[in-house]
Amino acid sequence: MADWSELPKELLRLISELIDSPFYLLRFRSVCSSWRSSSSPLPTHLPLKFPTFPSATAATPSIFSLSKRTLFLINPPHQTPHRSWLIKIGQDTHGHTLLFHPLSRFPIKSNSNSNLILNLIDLPVFDIEHEFILADTCPTSLNALYMEKVVFSWLGSRKDGFALLTIHISGRLALFRSGHPDWTIIPDMLTPYDDVCVHKGSLFAVDSTGRTVIVGLDLSLTPVADPVFGGDKKFLVACEGELFLVDKYLSSDYLCELGGFDDDDEDEIYELGCERAVRFEVYRLEEMERRWVEVGSLGDRVLFLGDDCAFSASASDLGVDRGGCVVFRDDTFNVNALESGLGVFHLDEGRISPLSDYPSISKLFWPPPDWTRYWAFPVKAEAMGDEGEKLINGKEVEGIVKVEPKPSKGLASKVVDLLEKIVVKLFHDSSLPQQYLNGNFGPVLLETPPTNNLPVTGYLPDCLNGEFVRVGPNPKFAPVAGYHWFDGDGMIHGLRIKDGKATYVSRFVRTSRLKQEEYFGGAKFMKIGDLKGLLGLLMVNIQMLRYKLNVLDDSYGHGTDAIKVFEDGDLQTLGLMDYDKRLDHSFTAHPKVDPFTGEMFTFGYSQTPPYLTYRVISKDGFMHDAVPITISEPVMMHDFAITENYAIFMDLPLYFRPKDMVKEKKLIFQYDSTKKARFGVLPRYAKDEQQIRWFELPNCFIFHNANAWEEEDEVVLITCRLEDVDLDGGGGAVKETIGSLTNQLYEMRFNMKSGQASQKKLSEPTVDFPRVNESYTGRKQRYVYGTILSSMAKITGIVKFDLHSEPELGKTKLEVGGNVQGIYALGPGRFGSEAIYVPRVLGTPCEEDDGYLIFYVHDENTKNSYAHVIDAKTMSSDPVAIVELPARVPYGFHAFFVTEEQLQEQGKL
Ligand SMILES: [Fe+2]
Repeated sequence: MADWSELPKELLRLISELIDSPFYLLRFRSVCSSWRSSSSPLPTHLPLKFPTFPSATAATPSIFSLSKRTLFLINPPHQTPHRSWLIKIGQDTHGHTLLFHPLSRFPIKSNSNSNLILNLIDLPVFDIEHEFILADTCPTSLNALYMEKVVFSWLGSRKDGFALLTIHISGRLALFRSGHPDWTIIPDMLTPYDDVCVHKGSLFAVDSTGRTVIVGLDLSLTPVADPVFGGDKKFLVACEGELFLVDKYLSSDYLCELGGFDDDDEDEIYELGCERAVRFEVYRLEEMERRWVEVGSLGDRVLFLGDDCAFSASASDLGVDRGGCVVFRDDTFNVNALESGLGVFHLDEGRISPLSDYPSISKLFWPPPDWTRYWAFPVKAEAMGDEGEKLINGKEVEGIVKVEPKPSKGLASKVVDLLEKIVVKLFHDSSLPQQYLNGNFGPVLLETPPTNNLPVTGYLPDCLNGEFVRVGPNPKFAPVAGYHWFDGDGMIHGLRIKDGKATYVSRFVRTSRLKQEEYFGGAKFMKIGDLKGLLGLLMVNIQMLRYKLNVLDDSYGHGTDAIKVFEDGDLQTLGLMDYDKRLDHSFTAHPKVDPFTGEMFTFGYSQTPPYLTYRVISKDGFMHDAVPITISEPVMMHDFAITENYAIFMDLPLYFRPKDMVKEKKLIFQYDSTKKARFGVLPRYAKDEQQIRWFELPNCFIFHNANAWEEEDEVVLITCRLEDVDLDGGGGAVKETIGSLTNQLYEMRFNMKSGQASQKKLSEPTVDFPRVNESYTGRKQRYVYGTILSSMAKITGIVKFDLHSEPELGKTKLEVGGNVQGIYALGPGRFGSEAIYVPRVLGTPCEEDDGYLIFYVHDENTKNSYAHVIDAKTMSSDPVAIVELPARVPYGFHAFFVTEEQLQEQGKL
C-alpha cells in the first residue's frame, strides 16, 4: 500500500494550492506532518481590493474589499436520526470569523450558545455553496452598504486571472477583469438585470423579463434564453449541472392590510421593500433550444434563495422530510425579522407556507442542533465564566456525597462479559421486539443543553415562572438482553419558564450506575427486563459476580440523587443525599411533603427483611430513625399516602417471587389474585409499628394515590386502583395492549374505630397519574387531575374529577358528566404525560382549582414534542399556551414544578 506521507512535497504543495476552502485546507493539513509542512496555513488568497464603480461625484477615492462566505452542511458524526445543520461562515473586516444565517447577509446575534466551538475535524462537513461580498472600505461612501449580489470566477487556472460580475445601481451589469484597472459598466440593457451566477465556469445574468445571457470577458452578452416575463424578481440557481430560473411574484397588499397604504402607494411600498412573495414559478434552461421550460416538480431538490446567493441541495442530503420546494427570504432588509421572514413554496402544492410548517427544514437553521454541543472543543472553565464553573468544575455541596465509582476493566471484566454473552445467547430470545425501546417510548440519544426563546403559542402566565421537570426512562446504552419500561437511565426534561419565555433542557441523572456504564461504554447492570425465567437467575448471578470481582463498584448503595436547577434552566446531578448516612434502604419515588409542616414522609421497600421501612424527615432535613414495618412477603410497593395524623401503606399482592421466575418462566414480580389487598394505617410520628392498623379490601394493585385525609373516625384514600396487573406486558413482544389496564379512580375508607374498610368506584377506566393541588396534601380537598390511558399506556388526555359530585358509572369510557368535570383530549396521534397543577397565585389562598396544568405532549404524526399549559378551572380545549420543544421528549413518568422561589433558593447552593 502506498504511503501517502511519502508523496513528493512539490505535489502536495500543488494540491494544497488548489484548495480554496479554509476548512478543507485545515483537514488537508491535519493528515500528517509531511502534508502540513508542504502547505500554507491559508488558502490561496482571493484578490482582496478593487476600485469602486466609476462615479463623477466621488469626492474621495475609495476601494472595495472582497470577502467570501461559505455555506456548510454539518452532519452528526454517526448515522443517527439527528438533524443536519446548515450554516454560513465568513469573516468581518477585522478578520474575525462570524456565523451567518444561510439565507441572510447579516451575522447571527450570539446568545448563550456563544461558547459553542465546534470541532469540525471530527464531523462530516460539506461545502454547499460560496458567496462573495463587496464592501466599500470608506464608511462614508455611497457604496459602503453595497447590497447587490456579486459572483466571482477564476478563469481557467489561477494564473489566468479572475472576473467579478455584479449589477450596477443603474440595473446594468458591472464586470471587473483581472489585469484591468477599473470596472466596466456594460451598456447593453433592454431591461434592468435581476441576478447573476456562475454556471459551468461561465458568467450568467438574467434581466427582469427572464432574458438570460452569458457575459464574455470581451464584454459580449450572448443570449441563452428568451424572456419568460411573468413575475417580479428572477433568480438563477445552478443545480447538479443544470441551471434553473426561479420567478418570484410579489404582492404589496401586506401593507394595505395593515391600513397604512392604499393601492396608489405601490411605488412607496416598493421603496420600503415590504412586498411579500405570493407565488413562484420555476424554469429549467434548455440550452440547445435556448429557452426556459417551466417545471412542475423539483423532485428531491430544495432550492434556497438567499440575500447574496442561491443554492440547492437534495432533501436526502439535507435530511429533511421531502424536497420539491423553494425556501426563500421575504424581508431582505430587516435584520431582526429573519425567522418570521422565511417561507417555503412547495411546487407540487403551489402554495406558500411559513417555515414553521416545515419543521424538518426549519431545524436546518439556527439554533444549533443538540448534538453539536458534544463535538465542541473543550473550553477552559475560566474562559466560560459561570457557565464553565457549572459545567466543568461542578461545585461540591455540603450534605451531598459526590458519586465517583471505581469500576475495573481488567481481565475479570472480560471473563464476565464473555460469560454474559454466552448466557444471553443461550437463554434470551433476541427476536422479540423491544416495545419500550421503539417509537416515542425509545430513548433520545443525547442530552439537549438549555435552548431558549422557544416558540410559544398563547402565553405563559407569570405563576409559571420556575421550571417544570419530568423524568423518564432513557437508557444511554443498548441493553444486552431484556428491557422493561421501568429500566433505563433516568433523564430529566426541564422547561424553564421566565417572564413568558421558555427554555428547554434535558439531562441524564448522573448516577453511579450511569457513570460506570459510561466507563465501560456499554450496559453492565442487570435490568428488570432480564428478570424472567432462568435468564433472570443467571443475570442476577452475573451482576453479583461483577460486584464480587470489583468489576462494578456497589459502594454507592442508597441515597436520593440531588439535582440542582440553574437560573438558565440547566440541570446538574450534584450527587447522592444519604442524610448523613442514615438512609440505608431504598427511597420511594413518591415521598410526601406536608404543606403545613414542611416535613417529608417517605418509605423504602426491599426484597430482604425488613421488607418495608418508614421514615420521617424534618423540615431542616434531619432523617429520623427507621420504622421497620412487618409484612409477610416482599412486594412491589410504589406509593403511599399521608393525612394530618397518619401514614398509609399498601401491602398489595404483587409479589417478588424469584423461585416462580425460574420455575414458571415468569417475570420476577407476580400478581397473586388469591390474596387480599391490605392497607396499613400508622400514626405518622410512630416510633415503631405497634400502633399500625391493617385493613383488608378486595384484591387489587395500586401504582399511584391522589391524596388522603381524615373525616371523623375514618381515613379516606383517593387512589387509582387496578383489578389486575401484568408487569410483563411490555417486556418483550409488541402486544395490542400492555396488560389489563383497568385503572379506575376509587375512594377507600378505613374506619379507625370499627376496623372496617370500604371502597367506592369513582370512575370508569382508564385513569392514572392522579395529581392534586399540593397545598392540600393530607387534607380534604375536591379536585383530582389524572391522565387518560390508552390500551398501550399512552396518555390520550387529561381528566379533572370533582369529588363533590357523584360519579356517572356504567359508561364504556371516561366522559364529561357526573364527577368528570372536564376532559382535555389531545387528539389523534398525540399523547401526553403526567400533568402538574400550578396555582395561579402562589402562596396566597385562592380557589383550589384556580390555576394551570402543565405537561408534555408528543405528536406521533409530526414527531415533534410540545409542552401544553391548560386552564385547570375550565379545562378548556383551547390551551393557554403551547411551547414547541427543540427535541423529542419520550413518554415518561413523573413530573414536578420547581417554583421561582425554590429555584432562587437552590441558587445559593
Ligand atoms: Fe410512580
